[in-house]
Amino acid sequence: MNINTTSKKRTIITICVLGAVAGLLFGLDTGVMSGALQFVAKEFYLSDAMQERVMSTLMLGAALGAVVSGWLSYYIGRKYSLLIASILFIIGSLLCAFSSSVETLISARILLGLAVGVASYAAPLYLSEISPEQIRGSMISLYQLLITVGLFTAFVSDTLLSYYGAWRWMLGIVVIPALFLFLGVLVLPRSPRWLISKGRDQEAKHVLQKIRMTNEEAHVELENIHESLKIKQSGWKLFKENSNFRRSVALGILLQVMQQCTGINIVLYYAPKILGMAGFSTTAEQMWGSVIISIINVLATFIAIGIVDRWGRRPTLLLGFIVMSSSMYLLGLMLHLHIETIWAHCFSILMLLVFITGFAMSAGPLIWVLCSEIQPLKGRDFGITISTTTNWLSNMILAATFLSLLDILGAANTFWFYGILNSFFIAFTWFFVPETKGMSLEKIESNLMKGRQLRDIGWPMSH
Ligand code: BGC
Repeated sequence: MNINTTSKKRTIITICVLGAVAGLLFGLDTGVMSGALQFVAKEFYLSDAMQERVMSTLMLGAALGAVVSGWLSYYIGRKYSLLIASILFIIGSLLCAFSSSVETLISARILLGLAVGVASYAAPLYLSEISPEQIRGSMISLYQLLITVGLFTAFVSDTLLSYYGAWRWMLGIVVIPALFLFLGVLVLPRSPRWLISKGRDQEAKHVLQKIRMTNEEAHVELENIHESLKIKQSGWKLFKENSNFRRSVALGILLQVMQQCTGINIVLYYAPKILGMAGFSTTAEQMWGSVIISIINVLATFIAIGIVDRWGRRPTLLLGFIVMSSSMYLLGLMLHLHIETIWAHCFSILMLLVFITGFAMSAGPLIWVLCSEIQPLKGRDFGITISTTTNWLSNMILAATFLSLLDILGAANTFWFYGILNSFFIAFTWFFVPETKGMSLEKIESNLMKGRQLRDIGWPMSH
C-alpha cells in the first residue's frame, strides 16, 4: 500500500469519525435523563405524569427534528445541518444545567430532542454519501458504536454524580462533547452528492478526489451521481408519482419499526426494573446489571463493524433476530417459572445480555445502514426523513406503553410478545430486506427504479 493510499484512508476514517460524533451526542442525551430524573423530580416536586413528560419530550423533539431535517439538509446540506444540531446541543445542555423551573427544563429537552432528531437524520446520511462502498457499512456502524458509547458514558457519569445528587452537572457536562462536535463539523467536507445535486460540480470533484483512492474512481462516481440525478421529480412529488420510490419508503418505515419493536429501548430504559423482576432486588445489583448491559451494547457493536461488509447485511440481521427472539422467549420463561435460585437469576441476566448482543451486532447499526442506502438520490432526503421520524415515534410509543403492557399481559407474556415480534422479523428480513454489501448507491437505486423485488435491489445484475 503506498503512502498516498494510506493517507487517503486515514482522511476518510477521520472524516467518518468526526461525522459519527453526532451519534455520541444522540446516546448521551437519550441516556442521561434516566439517572438525573429522580433528583430533578425532588428539586421541582414533580408528579409521575410530569416526570414522564420530562422524559418523553426529548423523543417528541427528535421526531420533529427528523421531520424538519429533510428540508434543512436539502437546502443547506448535510454538513450545515450537523452544525446546526451541534449548536442546539450546546444551547440545550447549558439550558438544562441552569434551568430554574421545570418549564425551562422541558423546553431545553425539546431543543436537545430537535438536535438529536437532526443528527440522527444527517449523520448516517452524510456517512453513507462520503464513504467508499467497500467500507460504507462499517463507517455507518461507527455512528451506532458512538450511540452506544454515549449511552454507556451517560450511565456511568450519572452513577458517579448521583452520589452528590448533582443532576445539573449530569445534564450540563454534555456541553463538552457538543463543543467537540461543533469544531469537528467545521472541518468536514460537504457531501459530494449534495454538491452535485446543487450543480456545484467543481467542488464535488475536489471533495471526491480527496476521499477516493484514484482520480479515476472519483470521476466514475461523479458520473454515476449525475446519472442518478436525471430523474427529475423529488421528494413528495416522486413519492406520489413513482411506485418504486414508494416501495423503498415503505421498506425504510418497516425497517425502523422493526428496530424499535425488537424491544431494545424497553431493555435499556427499564433495565433496573427488569433486573428487579428477574430477582435482583437491591439498587446496587440493578445498577451494576445496567452498567454491564450498556458495556455489552458497546462491545457487541464491534462485531457488527467487523462483519457487516464481509458477511453482508442479510445474514447479520437474520442471525441478530434469531438471537433476540430466542433470548426473549427464554427470559419470558424464567419470569414465568419464578425460580428463586441464584442460578436462575444469573440465567435471566445472561438472557438480557444475549439479547443486547443480538441487537448491537445486527439491528442496532444495520437498520441505520440500510435506511441510508436504499433511497434513490432524488428522494433520499424525503425517504430518510420518513424513516428517521418513524424511529422516534415508535421509540416514544413503545417506551410509553411498556408499563401498561406489563400490567395487562404480565411480565412473562410481555417478553414472549417481544419474542414473537422478533421471530416475525426473521421472516420479514428473509423476504424483503436487500443485501447491499459492496454495491454502489447508484446501482442499488437503478435496480430499485427498474422495479426489481426489494430483496434483490442490492444484487448485481447478473445475479
Ligand atoms: C436505536 C436507539 C437505541 C440505541 C441503542 C439505536 O440504533 O435507534 O433507539 O437506543 O440504538 O444502542
